[in-house]
Amino acid sequence: MKKDDVRREMESLREKIRRHDYLYYALDAPEISDEEYDALFRRLVQLEESHPELITPDSPTQRVGFPPLDKFQPFKHEVPMLSLENAMAEGEITAFDQRVKKLLNVKGDVEYLAEPKIDGLAIEVIYENGGLSGAGTRGDGYEGEDVTPNVKTIRAIPWRLFRGKEGNGAPRLLAVRGEVYMEKKDFRRLNESRGERGESLFANPRNAAAGSLRQLDSSITAARPLKAFFYGVGSLEGRSFQHQWELLKQLGRWGLPVNPRSHLCEGIGEALEFYGRLREERDRLPYEIDGVVIKVNRVDWQRSLGEKSRSPRWAVAYKFTSQEAQTKIQEIMAQVGRTGVLTPVAVLTPVTVGGVTVQRATLHNQDEIDRKDVRVGDVVTVRRAGDVIPEVVEVLREHRGGSEKPFRMPDHCPSCSGSVVRLPEEAFHRCLNRNCPAQIKGAIWHFASRDGLDIDGLGKKIISNFVDRGLVRSVADLYSLEAEQLEGLEGFGKKSAENLIEAIERSRDVPLERFLYALGIQHVGSHTAQILARHFGSLEALKNATREELTAVPGIGDTMAEAIVRHFENEANRELIQELLAAGIRLKEPPRAEPAGDSFWEGKRVVFTGTLSSYTRQEAAELVTSRGAKVTESVTGNTDVVVAGEKAGSKLRKATEQGITVLNEEDFLGKIS
Ligand code: IVH
Repeated sequence: MKKDDVRREMESLREKIRRHDYLYYALDAPEISDEEYDALFRRLVQLEESHPELITPDSPTQRVGFPPLDKFQPFKHEVPMLSLENAMAEGEITAFDQRVKKLLNVKGDVEYLAEPKIDGLAIEVIYENGGLSGAGTRGDGYEGEDVTPNVKTIRAIPWRLFRGKEGNGAPRLLAVRGEVYMEKKDFRRLNESRGERGESLFANPRNAAAGSLRQLDSSITAARPLKAFFYGVGSLEGRSFQHQWELLKQLGRWGLPVNPRSHLCEGIGEALEFYGRLREERDRLPYEIDGVVIKVNRVDWQRSLGEKSRSPRWAVAYKFTSQEAQTKIQEIMAQVGRTGVLTPVAVLTPVTVGGVTVQRATLHNQDEIDRKDVRVGDVVTVRRAGDVIPEVVEVLREHRGGSEKPFRMPDHCPSCSGSVVRLPEEAFHRCLNRNCPAQIKGAIWHFASRDGLDIDGLGKKIISNFVDRGLVRSVADLYSLEAEQLEGLEGFGKKSAENLIEAIERSRDVPLERFLYALGIQHVGSHTAQILARHFGSLEALKNATREELTAVPGIGDTMAEAIVRHFENEANRELIQELLAAGIRLKEPPRAEPAGDSFWEGKRVVFTGTLSSYTRQEAAELVTSRGAKVTESVTGNTDVVVAGEKAGSKLRKATEQGITVLNEEDFLGKIS
């Protein structure tokens, strides 16, 4: 290849990657799959490796980190980064509205912008003539720490602002402010792998984001999945805005991620309604929010309202109730899971956290207990977020009376009395007895769970009863159960026994990915199971895959590959699969399930593009997957349906060109009702 051609290809790849970063991070509307993105990236890396002299400092490959620092330099904020006044009750918000109206001397409704209050870490990023030139944390509002190299590793943050149409060029100077955060799922994954390596866990996504950004070695930051949303400006030269709403839209056009849920409100009543809706949605959002920020939309009014010493008079944070609460640990128990791992669980004096009563909280492992110095009798902070297991965050030492008792993991399994060991390379204690009833129960529960074989009515209590009575010794035994055996058992009549047997029968036909998930292979959650099923297409192919073949699959790392190979090498695991297949489990292999029944969505491959006004992308995807469809990122020859919302772009074009069925929002709503 001629050098000029290489240079051209490299530049084109870089442009593409920047564009796809923008579509993915700023618009949350990727046009290509992760695999396609990885392929572009790998090609660029390959070209740069063979032509290092052609690497440019602004290449997306350079986001992997910069030389480590000894200490952070101070970072001054030309315009101080104020904080917000907090409100906890509706009365405080209506009082805020009254005050605003009085100071502005307006009679009618004031227009507000209501924005989700992201629970992360505030930063300021400086763009000079469109190029990222610096970034700092908030610090005390006047001076923070210079974290420029770290911020440059965050893919959601562009190195260069996009040039829009006329008049939308980059300003001379833009000090843009926002929040760096970590998504809940990324936080869980990070903690999971830290736990496995015996490293300390982050208490919450906010701490994880802050800890990841404040690293002297930016290559550590680069390896952490940080994201950002921007919501305001400090210094701004060469451009002005009349409304907060207009500012947010322009930030988006420059390629900066802004939260799509921000909502323009005609009067405070609408802002309160928005607050109510967002509070309902809170647990389902991919990131944590701790309230709604309500801002006067008009910038001239913001100016005339001005500020108090630490906070503006034109904005207020209406907080949600906390996800944390204080309570006492009454007891610590070791709970045995399906893999034999013993997890210490604190039994608590019941306490309401974010509207839910919490009675138990995980303590993760012995190292975490030691690190936090948690003892029985301690008063602690517990935290829940969404439907994840609540956890003990920290001990409130000032409540110690002296009678608190340290906890040690038992030497013997609380379920089977078998010996418990801690392998040197692991952070966990394990019961090594494969026939341990607690492990069998855990494995059956996992197998029958919704993402697995989805056996309706097979709850924890019933499983426990079946195992204790010796009715089932492994998941395969479920398939030889008969209704007569269940009748008369605790909680079973004739009808309920028949119903359960029927549900077990129905589970015999199962998509490969759900079966893979159900097997309980270490590190293989439902997302990974889906990747594996799609890539290998059959159980046989996956069983025979080598470590190299596995790691070559995008999304499968070394640890997973190792676990998968070991799982299928294990004789007992192979036998179990044989037994299940002999018991009549039929695997439905991807890619395309045949349309069945009368559902429009069953078996269809669906691509979403543009914005729907009635559902978020994720909600819409859940609606169709629950009806049997499969959602994919890009339009290909296999796509059956494209759902096109507002501002649908190239995917819609492609679909029309290829004659694929296109549904607008109204059609879509009709088909899911
Ligand atoms: S506006 C003068 N908007 O909340 C306006 N802040 O207590 C100051 N935050 O440190 C901030 N989401 O980091 C604003 N949509 C949002 C926000 C937001 C999160 C954080 C911000 C600040 C804190 C204010």
